[in-house]
Amino acid sequence: MDLNEEDPAALELKITGSNFDLSSFNPHGISTFTDEDNVVYLLVVNHPDLQTTVELFKFQEEDKSLLHLKTIRHKLLPSLNDIVAVGPEHFYATNDHYFVDPYLRSWELYLGLAWSYVVYYSPDEVRVVAEGLDFANGINTSPDGKHVYISELLAHRIHVYERHANQTLTPLKFLDCDTLVDNISVDPVTGDLWVGCHPNGIRIFIYDPENPPASEVLRIQNILTEEPKVTVVYKENGTVLQGSTVASVYKGQLLVGTVFHKALHCEL
Ligand SMILES: *[C@@H]1O[C@H](CO)[C@@H](O)[C@H](O)[C@H]1NC(C)=O
Ligand SMILES: *[C@@H]1O[C@H](CO)[C@@H](O)[C@H](O)[C@H]1NC(C)=O
Ligand SMILES: *[C@@H]1O[C@H](CO)[C@@H](O)[C@H](O)[C@H]1NC(C)=O
Repeated sequence: MDLNEEDPAALELKITGSNFDLSSFNPHGISTFTDEDNVVYLLVVNHPDLQTTVELFKFQEEDKSLLHLKTIRHKLLPSLNDIVAVGPEHFYATNDHYFVDPYLRSWELYLGLAWSYVVYYSPDEVRVVAEGLDFANGINTSPDGKHVYISELLAHRIHVYERHANQTLTPLKFLDCDTLVDNISVDPVTGDLWVGCHPNGIRIFIYDPENPPASEVLRIQNILTEEPKVTVVYKENGTVLQGSTVASVYKGQLLVGTVFHKALHCEL
């Protein structure tokens, strides 16, 4: 969707590349990286047949298509949710609990076992950089790349990590929110965090059309300071939008995405 247009519409990007199986494509988190020659790479978490891979694409401006370059698999990437690219083939990503055995998953959530963790991946090195999270969900970096933000869904918590030159992370602080924090977007201009949230967790996990999941968007300013400012920018009971997961800003506009419902395009 080109938000510079007067009345923008969503456009399906054509995917090309001989080794890519489009029929099992099941995308989850996505992230872009632009290199010094202005080549835009798109990294996509994929769940073909409930497995996890990361698909690397190159964006072709001429015909707005995606050229598939590579499929990445690794034993430290068993159940990825979200991804943030820091190089063409370099990323941080969260492992959640969705794509392990559903029976195990329900017990694991019930027992509160923490095996959700965050991984740094590069062609030379793959390592766990944060662990002990109940359900690591969204991940993003500050505009200067010095901090990494991770939302811990069930703990209602946004974690701030310091990012080092060797790509390790050190926990710095966290911010408790009164809602289930799903995914984090960062305003590239102001550095504010925009968070898609679930005010009522049960409704998102057990869907009832009579009582749909609500939607909520938080804006967090000055997260590094003693007193970050948290504003509820949008909150609604599910009549308009069901189960908001992500909110992204661009030039005074806000796009709110959901798990299985529609997306909302708002003016700020
Ligand atoms: C989370 O939000 C980021 C930034 O808007 C987006 O790139 C990514 O695809 C989202 N991930 C998921 C799993 O929705
Ligand atoms: C990475 O860098 C940090 C900060 O300089 C340092 O404390 C840490 O020991 C380094 N870790 C590794 C594995 O090199
Ligand atoms: C949701 O809010 C709308 C508008 O305020 C109201 O008409 C509706 O009854 C509410 N629905 C539920 C399920 O609470």
